[in-house]
Amino acid sequence: MTTVTSEAAPILEVCDLAVRYRRRRVVDGVSFAVGLGDGAAILGRSGSGKSSILSAVIGLVKPAAGTIRFDGHDVARMSRSQREQYLRHEIGVVFQHGELFDDLEARENVMVAALLAEMDRDDAYERSTTLLRDLGLEPSGTLVRDMSGGERQRVAIARALVTSPRLVIADEPTGSLDAEFRDIVAEHILDVPRRWGSALLMVTHDEALAARVGTCYRLLADQDGPAQLVTA
Ligand SMILES: Nc1ncnc2c1ncn2[C@@H]1O[C@H](COP(=O)(O)OP(=O)(O)O)[C@@H](O)[C@H]1O
Ligand SMILES: [Mg+2]
Repeated sequence: MTTVTSEAAPILEVCDLAVRYRRRRVVDGVSFAVGLGDGAAILGRSGSGKSSILSAVIGLVKPAAGTIRFDGHDVARMSRSQREQYLRHEIGVVFQHGELFDDLEARENVMVAALLAEMDRDDAYERSTTLLRDLGLEPSGTLVRDMSGGERQRVAIARALVTSPRLVIADEPTGSLDAEFRDIVAEHILDVPRRWGSALLMVTHDEALAARVGTCYRLLADQDGPAQLVTA
């Protein structure tokens, strides 16, 4: 009898990444990988380079060295149409402050992302409604400007998930929340790999939160040189 041990390649592979602004390298030699249904957290103090790593993964910053591969494709070498596909369909991003349209309701905010990804309008409506309800929110009736920080961040999670991205990226998703809401939002973020099957890449300075993600790395800032990533 043969045993099949098929280990799927990680959806995201970061290898020896360096990010530099002008002459200054902020991170160097950063390597990690994350698979579908799995999570990776990067822990580091403010200014250590966490958001810079995410910017490189999203493709907003070109690596000074190293490679970032998504499903085997080098993010820095994607064609225009591959990049569009990547940004609209393959990744979903949750930022620290939600970055929502304040004058729209929850469902409208989520639908914007779905429609940008060319989802059929009825499907976008259905999926936005279902996701928001799954996250414990009413899809309509309140402008997001009148929502609590915890509710807004759950709208941001729904928006990140609406296109069923294979990679969910979260930059300090609980960083601006009071303790009361932090736990609720954390539960939903931590649930992403198991519940939706995506890979989760989260950066945070919250030790307790990072410890609950599959693999936890620590970005150690050097006094003068670039920060390095170590397994926490
Ligand atoms: N666009 C930029 N141009 C120049 N320096 C930057 C830029 N973005 C970030 N930095 C600097 O790089 C360092 C790391 O920043 P950042 O990645 O935002 O850290 P973190 O997210 O861990 O707080 C900081 O010293 C910051 O000031
Ligand atoms: Mg940051």
